[in-house]
Amino acid sequence: MDLFDAITQRRSHRRQFRDEPISQAHLDQMIEAARWAPSPFNVQPWELSIIRNSASKNALAKITEASIIEQFKDGRFLDDNSRWMRLTDAEWQKRGDGVRLTEHVDLPPIFLKHPDKLKPLLKNARHLSILGHLGAGRMPANEISELVRSSPLLIMVLMNCKRRPPGEGGLRWMWLGMGAMIQNLLLAATALGIGTQFVSAPLERSSDRKRIRELFNLPDFYEVISLLRLGYIDSDPGESVRLPLKAFVRYDE
Ligand SMILES: Cc1cc2nc3c(=O)[nH]c(=O)nc-3n(C[C@H](O)[C@H](O)[C@H](O)COP(=O)(O)O)c2cc1C
Repeated sequence: MDLFDAITQRRSHRRQFRDEPISQAHLDQMIEAARWAPSPFNVQPWELSIIRNSASKNALAKITEASIIEQFKDGRFLDDNSRWMRLTDAEWQKRGDGVRLTEHVDLPPIFLKHPDKLKPLLKNARHLSILGHLGAGRMPANEISELVRSSPLLIMVLMNCKRRPPGEGGLRWMWLGMGAMIQNLLLAATALGIGTQFVSAPLERSSDRKRIRELFNLPDFYEVISLLRLGYIDSDPGESVRLPLKAFVRYDE
């Protein structure tokens, strides 16, 4: 696949993958792409934990599930999220940013038919934490944790802070290198017909990141940066939107 096609065709795949293991040859190619990413002073602060065994997938799925249930009880979290939730495709496409609410939570039929009814609720999303306390987070928590559990492959992306580059900005530059490495991996995956998804829920809270560190016996100089799901996809991965150029490109300004 041409590089520009991979860039524009990569999508966040929020559905099940094909029930088929990722071949070692394809895994090697993704890792090789990741290896050639730039990093400050060429420190290469990344480590990749390739997770194929069910016990580790189950453990990560459980942390994901518990974390989402808790996050739905947190009014500030709901307020923060609601700002980026788009109620309809038309709104999403017009704005060119945010995510479709329906891709993240299953809505009752009344709201699917009349999404505008959700507008006032989303404006004060923190009040929905009452529903979170009544268990509203369970359904999305089940769905997302099931996606984690059933993924052919998970990659836990770690940053080894002992490899910090020099200078006051060292930590910032190190994070940027991590982003470049992850993008190389995602683009290589796309070119190979492999779908990917970031699963950030189990890394949102420091208490969960601590649980993950304990689970994998990780010393504290490792930062858990990302959890990625990967698997082969059959079909067109779907749409996405972006801001228009005029919203973010400045010439000679
Ligand atoms: C650091 C980071 C964290 C993300 N976390 C999640 C996540 O937890 N769940 C998810 O479905 N997508 C996640 N995404 C994907 C974004 O939602 C997605 O890139 C954006 O909506 C654009 O969609 P696209 O990737 O399909 O073009 C994350 C992306 C990044 C870069």
